[in-house]
Amino acid sequence: MKTKLIRIDDINSPAARHAIDEAAALIKAGRLVAFPTETVYGLGANALDAAACLAIFAAKGRPADNPLIVHIADLSMLHTLAAPGDVALKLARAFMPGPLTLVLPKKPLVPDAVSAGLNTVAIRWPAHNVARALIQAAGCPVAAPSANISGRVSPTTAAHVYADMAGKVPLILDGGPAEIGLESTVVDACGDTPVILRPGRVSAEEMARIVGLPIRQAGGEAVERPASPGLKYRHYAPRGELLLAGDLKQILELRQRLAQKYGREPLIIACAETAALLPHGAQSLAIARQGDLPAYARNIFAALRQADAENFPAMVVETAPEVGLGAAIMNRLYKAAGEAGNNFIK
Ligand code: TXA
Ligand code: MG
Repeated sequence: MKTKLIRIDDINSPAARHAIDEAAALIKAGRLVAFPTETVYGLGANALDAAACLAIFAAKGRPADNPLIVHIADLSMLHTLAAPGDVALKLARAFMPGPLTLVLPKKPLVPDAVSAGLNTVAIRWPAHNVARALIQAAGCPVAAPSANISGRVSPTTAAHVYADMAGKVPLILDGGPAEIGLESTVVDACGDTPVILRPGRVSAEEMARIVGLPIRQAGGEAVERPASPGLKYRHYAPRGELLLAGDLKQILELRQRLAQKYGREPLIIACAETAALLPHGAQSLAIARQGDLPAYARNIFAALRQADAENFPAMVVETAPEVGLGAAIMNRLYKAAGEAGNNFIK
């Protein structure tokens, strides 16, 4: 299959209209379209078409028991798919459209292929104007996981999508680099107290303020009986070995250890201030100014992909403080480093 890439610069231009119409026609015909969102790129299909949704699993090599997020373009779509309670509606009103996914009791309309047989469905209303225009033009909810090969790093540019999906999807809409760069916060909002299944840009504190309740983070029990099936799989993994380091001293120790192990310098992914202190000969990529967590989040997945693209056998990543957006960044890095963060030295 030939994969077409169409760049959309100005959503109001005739060229953009044409591209959105072409993408919507593919979705209506049961085909797949990759599209930009403010978090990461998604691989979309008509969420009400079970066969089209199964094609998503095939293209990604995704395990069949890992359900898909359904993307909507307004709250009325939400009500056709799910039965939100009061707390869920408060969260929806406060954070949608935006980088929040709500897991809700599902209605019978949602195919089993989407929910992987669960009695819940994950719903997200993206803020990105290309995603919104696509869902509106398709006239149906759009099921879309991140548009990467299963288990690999999520795509934050159309080029990342192309690297994973060329030949497997007819169309990729290019809306430029993703603004947030980490996947949405996933919250189980079925009960009275919401539980975060995957941390993201929308933080526990922000949500607690809206619902007037403390918000729990899913704990280790998720590994035995995963509340979110995705929690049990290895995710966000580059091909090279990934080690995490908290400061310059650790970075230098790991650099030496990895250089000996592989006979080649590792790529050091760090903030600009740390990178500036590295000795001559070190290979580094500065992804943010120190403390600029939004930039760190925006650039980290591209950095991991770059390490692979340049065939680095290993990389050392400087950690972020585990608060706010930093907690979401570290969640992805621990997984990328191997489940329980085994490769983290402290
Ligand atoms: O930002 C995002 O959420 C991106 C963009 C494309 O919207 N999408 C995304 O989808 O990250 P995906 O499939 O890569 O991750 C969805 C996560 C998985 O961990 C999955 O297990 C969980 O959401 N999930 C989906 N449906 C669920 C459900 N009914 N109950 C619990 N977890 C669910
Ligand atoms: Mg994913």
